[in-house]
Amino acid sequence: MSILGNAISVMTNQAHQGDLEIDPSPLLAVLKDLHSQYKLLGEGAVAKYIPELAKVNPDLFSICIVTVDGQVYKVGDYDQLFTIQSISKVFAYGLALEDHGQDYVLTRVGVEPTGDAFNAIVLDEQSKRPYNPMVNAGAIATTSLIKGSGPTERLNRMLDMFRRYIGHDVFVDISVFTSERSTGHRNRAMAHLMLNFGMIDRNIEESLDLYFQQCAVMVNCQDLAVMAATLANRGINPITKEQAVDKRYIKDILSVMYTCGMYNFAGEWAYKIGIPAKSGICGGIIAVVPNKMGIGVFSPLLDVRGNSVRGVKVCEELSQRLGLHLFDCSGQQAKFG
Ligand code: DON
Repeated sequence: MSILGNAISVMTNQAHQGDLEIDPSPLLAVLKDLHSQYKLLGEGAVAKYIPELAKVNPDLFSICIVTVDGQVYKVGDYDQLFTIQSISKVFAYGLALEDHGQDYVLTRVGVEPTGDAFNAIVLDEQSKRPYNPMVNAGAIATTSLIKGSGPTERLNRMLDMFRRYIGHDVFVDISVFTSERSTGHRNRAMAHLMLNFGMIDRNIEESLDLYFQQCAVMVNCQDLAVMAATLANRGINPITKEQAVDKRYIKDILSVMYTCGMYNFAGEWAYKIGIPAKSGICGGIIAVVPNKMGIGVFSPLLDVRGNSVRGVKVCEELSQRLGLHLFDCSGQQAKFG
């Protein structure tokens, strides 16, 4: 039994098998407890390599959980907008899979963890593919696959995809977009390398623009949790009930999140926390508990790998306290779902 005790239990005698009954107060109490505990943790530094991101308030901190039956639990600065950054890679990958199917996407982007930093300039030696869609090189290749008759249609398709996951219209932060566009030489170098090997066949400046725009989409912590809950709920937004992505691609998306989503921390994350996740350089993290809930955490102080320090700690404790590790069969896991 988890330390939440009977806070989370299966509604065994309800009409819909698998529905959740979560007594809100203990779960909210856990979030409040984690928030007050970890707001004291001042370790880490905000990202500075995109100049506009250096302006963020490092004290911001929020945690949100959305269950697959649409209940929302949130604490801290959950309305604060920030740019989604690398968390967008998860959703762009889903759109590329919908546009081309798994076989074709696999010819352009692999699914192997790199063990390298998110911005490593490295391709698979044999295939010349970027290693996976969660690192920058793979994400740029993925974004170059998004269909549309021109840059505006491709951007609109991307924004509409985010709208389905989040449940409301989203916008690009133009300051962050232009800040990254004018300083993103490393990403531009990766794009040129992939162009050289024929892994990107469209105008690379256009693909880079779309990649920088998707990274600069503004979200808040609650949005992150709803997006994660949509992935947990077979691609259906648990609040609007809209299908955000074809359910056949959920396993592909969650698999690369699990193995590659936390970059060169992915192995330790899988070992200790045990659920698919993705981080962003602005300080967001999403974590997906399949068929149960989505978790969003926002805190801009980052560790050396570019993952939110408080975000990792909060997810680690949530995993332990709620018994979320996917492979935990010790009997300690929460009784739900
Ligand atoms: O391409 C970049 O470097 C950024 N737009 C996104 C990187 C990122 O979020 C890495 N995550 N922790």
